[in-house]
Amino acid sequence: MRTKIVAGNWKMNTLPAEGVELARQIAADRNSVNPDVKLIVCPPFTHLCGVIEALKGTDIEVGAQNCAAEAAGAYTGEVSAAMLAALGCRYVILGHSERRQYYGETSESLRPKMAQAFANNLRPIFCVGENLAEREAGKHLEVVKRQIEEVIFTLTPEEFSKVVIAYEPVWAIGTGKTATADQAQEIHAHIRTILREKFGEVANETTILYGGSCKPANAPELFAKEDVDGGLIGGAALKAPDFLGIVEGFPKK
Ligand code: PGA
Repeated sequence: MRTKIVAGNWKMNTLPAEGVELARQIAADRNSVNPDVKLIVCPPFTHLCGVIEALKGTDIEVGAQNCAAEAAGAYTGEVSAAMLAALGCRYVILGHSERRQYYGETSESLRPKMAQAFANNLRPIFCVGENLAEREAGKHLEVVKRQIEEVIFTLTPEEFSKVVIAYEPVWAIGTGKTATADQAQEIHAHIRTILREKFGEVANETTILYGGSCKPANAPELFAKEDVDGGLIGGAALKAPDFLGIVEGFPKK
């Protein structure tokens, strides 16, 4: 059985006290939703201490939205994977399309970040996805395959077993346009096939999240698909009822 995950990517939203309050609200109602779904929140760096403190004693895990490619040293403005792990982070989002698009991240710059994450026991939530032009040109399968091959294929089997993949079509992020459940399933199955060819049957255990305007209203349709194991949620992760409402989107046993 694959781990089902709903992860909140708060991006650069909320002030620290607001983030702590949001975490408290999520924790307060966590027991009202499916306990088998793992919940992760990924606040900005400045909120991590407070949010981790607020979530102590709950089963909600905390991740960061990025980490440095280097271990330590003269890298002004960077935050290392070791620092994140020391605070109590368990996950780190890497390769989000906003980082690729606005901060020039590439497969080359992501590989050492992945290495830092593993060296510090952080599990990467590795994001892939095509933009609108690539989708319209029918290149989405090819683009995602390349993104996976260039980074994920360089991992050892042990490292690979720790990875969560998030498929986020760039045209669906923050736009209100969601991929249809069939479009998501097509790519998720494609990703799993690529991973299986490289790493074997353990790819059946890899959690593959969908991201891009996922909300309580469309989560059930997406999560009903065989290879959609949960969501990486942006906008809807900023309100506890919406975030938890998405958790309710998994098919009831
Ligand atoms: P969104 O963002 O849910 O606001 O579209 C998702 C993401 O970028 O992780």
